[in-house]
Amino acid sequence: MNHILAQTLKEELKRLLAEGEEFLPLDDASLSSLKAIAAKASAQKNAPADAPGQKKSANAHRRQKLYETEDAEAARLPDNLAEIKFVEKLERLAPEAAPAEEKILKVKQNQTNPEAPLPKPQPFILPEGDKNLKWNFLRELVLADPVCNSHVKPGKKVVFGIGNLDAKIFFCGEAPGADEEIQGEPFVGRAGQLLTKIIGAMGLDRSQVYIGNIMNWRPEIERGNRPPTQEEMEYCLPYLKAQIDIVQPEIIVALGMTAVHGLLGFDPTRRLGKIRGKWTKFGERDLMITYHPSFLLQYASAAMKRLVWEDMMAVMERAGIPISQKQRGYYAGAK
Ligand code: URA
Repeated sequence: MNHILAQTLKEELKRLLAEGEEFLPLDDASLSSLKAIAAKASAQKNAPADAPGQKKSANAHRRQKLYETEDAEAARLPDNLAEIKFVEKLERLAPEAAPAEEKILKVKQNQTNPEAPLPKPQPFILPEGDKNLKWNFLRELVLADPVCNSHVKPGKKVVFGIGNLDAKIFFCGEAPGADEEIQGEPFVGRAGQLLTKIIGAMGLDRSQVYIGNIMNWRPEIERGNRPPTQEEMEYCLPYLKAQIDIVQPEIIVALGMTAVHGLLGFDPTRRLGKIRGKWTKFGERDLMITYHPSFLLQYASAAMKRLVWEDMMAVMERAGIPISQKQRGYYAGAK
């Protein structure tokens, strides 16, 4: 298998993983080719480290850069997780594996908890009063939460939602990344800038919507991001739900699979590709599921952008936001 094919396969795996797929059917020929790649990867891994002054491989250089800049979005994507799990799994496949028609390669997405067990979420009651009073109370509570703070490195911040407390539309993301935990605001890094553009394309700006996350701290692994564990999500969820109760949006937009798992509960059979673009409910509120902007950054095909844009047009229609002919035409014909 040549490099381009291997790269294409890797991209496809990453896409499937991001969509929530966990199984990849493989025929014997593909499996043999993949074993060869795994053997090569393993040989490279065991090769002596670059001598000082020696030029780094392009990939090593890219990774180094990723770590140095702590690029939140690039690191958040299943990229490193997929690669590691993929290669690990391939390395473990015995050469004498049964000659079945199809082998199943499982790419595990939901990690086990790398942290000490978390306490139960702290109970709280919102004060009587208007939305501002409730929101300020909740924000103070979250920013002072000892468990949230214990997951934040010195100089970094717990991140609480932001936006219009009367917003019709509530965007729900996954977790803060490197930029967010520096600024203490959701969606301010590269994915955030893309989300801001999407909101702009809808004829709105950030001050007209509400933006929150499932998590209030950045789930970190080494120097990258990782998906939050179930336990971590459960700890933070009451805070997200309270923000939804305060804002009372008509529509919630779940950005990506973690947001879906957080809002609707974990279900390993769910596939983002199948559920996106369809209306569902979060309690009494309308819920639209779409791809996470980080995913778009990684797979920036016009067809993928069109899918997200169609989801956003459905949101606009339901929110009573007029859609111009020009807007209807964005990425049209890209499917
Ligand atoms: N991705 C998210 O899901 N949330 C953020 O705040 C930033 C990136």
